[in-house]
Amino acid sequence: MNKAKLIVDKDYTIGEIDPGLFGSFIEHLGRAVYTGIYEPGHPTADEQGFRKDVLELVKQLNVSIVRYPGGNFVSGYKWTDGIGPKENRPRRLDYAWSSIETNEVGIDEFVDWCKKADVKLMYAVNLGTGTPQDAGYIVEYCNFPSGTFYSDLRRKNGHEQPHNIKVWCLGNEMDGPWQTCHLSAEDYGKKALETAKIMKWVDPSIKLVVCGSSTPLLSTYPEWDRVVLEHVYDYVDYISMHRYYENEGDVNDFLASFVDMDDFIHTISSVIDYVKAKKRSKKKVMISFDEWNVWYQKKQTRFPWQIAPPILEDIYSLLDALVFGGMLCTLLNNCDRVKMACLAQLVNVIAPIYTQKGGKAIKQAIYYPFQQVSLYGRGVALKTLVNCPKFKTKSYGDAPILQTAAAYDESNGTLTVFILNCGQDEDTELTLDIRSFGEVKFMQHIIMDGPDLNAKNTFENPDAVKPRVLDVDKADGVMNIKIPKLSWNVLRFNINK
Ligand code: AHR
Repeated sequence: MNKAKLIVDKDYTIGEIDPGLFGSFIEHLGRAVYTGIYEPGHPTADEQGFRKDVLELVKQLNVSIVRYPGGNFVSGYKWTDGIGPKENRPRRLDYAWSSIETNEVGIDEFVDWCKKADVKLMYAVNLGTGTPQDAGYIVEYCNFPSGTFYSDLRRKNGHEQPHNIKVWCLGNEMDGPWQTCHLSAEDYGKKALETAKIMKWVDPSIKLVVCGSSTPLLSTYPEWDRVVLEHVYDYVDYISMHRYYENEGDVNDFLASFVDMDDFIHTISSVIDYVKAKKRSKKKVMISFDEWNVWYQKKQTRFPWQIAPPILEDIYSLLDALVFGGMLCTLLNNCDRVKMACLAQLVNVIAPIYTQKGGKAIKQAIYYPFQQVSLYGRGVALKTLVNCPKFKTKSYGDAPILQTAAAYDESNGTLTVFILNCGQDEDTELTLDIRSFGEVKFMQHIIMDGPDLNAKNTFENPDAVKPRVLDVDKADGVMNIKIPKLSWNVLRFNINK
């Protein structure tokens, strides 16, 4: 049995956990929108064609904000194609995913969907084929009350009140050579600045996210982030980060993805600090980690020029869910810098929710850790002091077998400790020291583990991977808890007794 020690002290705070950390993402890609959130004719469809079974799963997931409409899609998207009477909307080629976009769903419908799902909307403007003025026009359409061409057009299209979208992304992954009209850091920095000026003139209350590195694997990282920030620092509130991990056959490396994610966040934080100092700025730009997940990019199939093809439909295993939990801990542990994060994506496309056209909607394995951290990872994040054995990885050196995070929610008197055990051969006996909280009650130990790391939820067997609740002992300030090998754990304590 491995032995480990973990101290969580109520006075050692990392920072407030922003609810924006529990965001997600819907792109016009594959079946995310069509036959995902929207399917007129489906037995559960509402009067607008939105699937109520999917809405219910989104609500249970406890998502705070949803990024839309892309992704790579947005860099060739004309937002005016998606407004007005549906019969007049054009069918277009979507260059990013070689698909056909019918434009049945556009900004007005998506705003309505967000209200039904009880989520905020983060809108990404097109800075590929789009111009700074197009970006100004969509802010006018969405947020300007009335009396101008675009605000009155919104009213004519059935939305008398402004949509009041508060968070806007200045394009998507503009550093990526795959992006429609990809730019150099210098050119993007200039375009983003001019766009930001117009957008904030139209609505000074909005918050802007500038594109940072879309992966640390690009040769432009992290110079891209420095150059772009030097252009736009005074105008933006967040810089984006994107990162996906996949199991390329080396389980140790895959389990240690959280180490790499943490390193990526620290590097971008340092770049922000450098530019802040260089500019003698009082403002601190924060991080929007607005695409993250496990994604088997190398195993993608393509179905060119179809409407809503079944692309990027990864089916997640228990192992994927464990790795995913480790990444959630990293986001919590960096909540002083990362104020927003979007699980990419939400439905069908590398997603926690998976639908059958005309049929069921199920929870994938990754649904559960996200839901648990979104429900219980609230309040402030506390530093976790861990002493545990390490395991060897090829890419990230020696990694700790335990990845941990802790959240203390004073409003309801709960402490939640999240633990990923990467140990593959032995369980771990954990000595947990939470003495600083005084008397506590151990409410729940929720766990995800199992003999088959490859187990996956399917339409036939939707509950193959799901959490179970363990019996708990009486709590002491210092207690021993068994953390099984290869497991994801949520330990919940009531502080008020
Ligand atoms: O989420 C899938 C794709 O990943 C997005 O369209 C893009 O931004 C990223 O490369």
